[in-house]
Amino acid sequence: MMSQACKKNDEKIPAAADTTAVAASAVAKVAYGTLPDGQAVEEYTLKNKNGVELKVINYGGIVTSLKVPDKNGVLEDVVLGFDSLKGYLGGSPYFGAIVGRYGNRIAKGKFTLDGQTYTLAQNNNGQHLHGGLKGFDKVYWHIAEVPAAEGPSLKLTYTSKDMEEGYPGTLQAEVTYTLTDNNEFKIAYTATTDKKTVVNLTQHTYFNLTGNAKRDILDHQVMLHADKFVPVDKVLIPTGKLKDVAGTPFDFRTATAVGQRVNEKDEQLIVGGGYDHAWVLSPADSGKAVASVYEPTSGRFLEVYTTEPAIQFYCGNFLDGTVVGKQGNAYAKRFGLCLETEHYPDSPNQPSFPSVVLNPGETYSTQTTYKFSTK
Ligand code: BGC
Repeated sequence: MMSQACKKNDEKIPAAADTTAVAASAVAKVAYGTLPDGQAVEEYTLKNKNGVELKVINYGGIVTSLKVPDKNGVLEDVVLGFDSLKGYLGGSPYFGAIVGRYGNRIAKGKFTLDGQTYTLAQNNNGQHLHGGLKGFDKVYWHIAEVPAAEGPSLKLTYTSKDMEEGYPGTLQAEVTYTLTDNNEFKIAYTATTDKKTVVNLTQHTYFNLTGNAKRDILDHQVMLHADKFVPVDKVLIPTGKLKDVAGTPFDFRTATAVGQRVNEKDEQLIVGGGYDHAWVLSPADSGKAVASVYEPTSGRFLEVYTTEPAIQFYCGNFLDGTVVGKQGNAYAKRFGLCLETEHYPDSPNQPSFPSVVLNPGETYSTQTTYKFSTK
């Protein structure tokens, strides 16, 4: 069944089989498979003038592929994922997906608003993770091509019903993906609600800048513009205090290879099984990147810009080779890294953390940009 939004889309975007017509457009789409409920999923391809190519599907708003040039101009895929819908349906660790309503953990799956306690799924070690059993990574997003001056752009929309996954309020979520001619992948999130609720949307792409995930990410040099991070307990829930990065393996204020300190006998590295923490972003000095990643062999350089107060740097500690991804690549430990821009974990239960409450009449609005270049 095609929705109204998709029908409108059909008028704008030529069918993929019509290759001559597609060539003129910056967005093409092809059939990508069918969900168990019969809903057809499509894959959209955005291309910029440099040949950079971003692919997105309706299911989970997942970025299935992102091809960017290395220092010799060779385009390769820098994100982990699967070759077909089946992979994404069969237990994906959030590869490429939009995460909501709450990216990251909420202690014991409970929070209280105006004296009322809400109970969410405890889907991770007795804690709530990434929106629950059927979070935004597992729902069907309507996709429409939208005009944007900067480059090809898609608007993804999803209406989450009142009490879906235990969260109050009907949430109208909108995520815009734009691929600019400056080789930027720009994401704009907005949401509105009809009841007081909590929201923390993010994007869960796993990057591997070697291209086609040739090896692990331990040689990737990461910079995080943060003086403090959020320490966690053994179930990865914040202790409530912030810690200075100075003098710890969490100091990424100067770009450092992930592998350089990840196995140190640091209490926080031990509980996280490596880096799996939120860094508190220092207020960006006028448009500077809050994070960057450099991969020396390919020369690929990724910079992150965001309006969010924190970034979860997860270095793929839980990948263990059992997930077989694109072209039969069994993604082993630390084969990808995530830079999830968001609010701090467990904010609904931590009065000292910046608020994640959204009231009726307000619009949640955040932006994040992943910019690719080489050096
Ligand atoms: C979390 C990890 C979790 C992973 C799931 C990350 O955002 O920080 O703890 O295992 O998502 O793939």
